[in-house]
Amino acid sequence: MITEDRWNHILGVARQAARLAEKFFSADANKKQEMFLLGMLHDVGYEFAVEKRQHAALGGELLRRTGYGCWREVYEHGNPDVSEMSDELFLLNCADMTVGPKGEMMTMEERLQEVGERFGRESDACKKMARMRERLTEDARFGLLFDEGL
Ligand SMILES: [Fe+2]
Repeated sequence: MITEDRWNHILGVARQAARLAEKFFSADANKKQEMFLLGMLHDVGYEFAVEKRQHAALGGELLRRTGYGCWREVYEHGNPDVSEMSDELFLLNCADMTVGPKGEMMTMEERLQEVGERFGRESDACKKMARMRERLTEDARFGLLFDEGL
């Protein structure tokens, strides 16, 4: 079920994804709108997921069935071990890592801390997020988005 908090997170991620797209795609208005849409759709699977870990695959499958072009990005979001990250997936993951569970903006460090507090430092969710942070910050594209560092 998509809760009110989750809904605020979704909207926050959509706006952050659009902001990052503006930087990354040199103010291409279409890309900005498309990244907003991807952000709006990225957690749709929560509406039908029984367990948290199912939501990306569920949402991705739903979007694939209905013909949405970026279904793979939704399917793979939050997975730090994915073999390749398209620009869209990279931006989406960056946005997801800088927006909190209620839609508040935060640094990746704060986000990691927050997840550690909620699920425990040794939880799979926290370890997965730490790996994601490492993967994103090591990527050459990271510097284009967060020139002031994060
Ligand atoms: Fe998600």
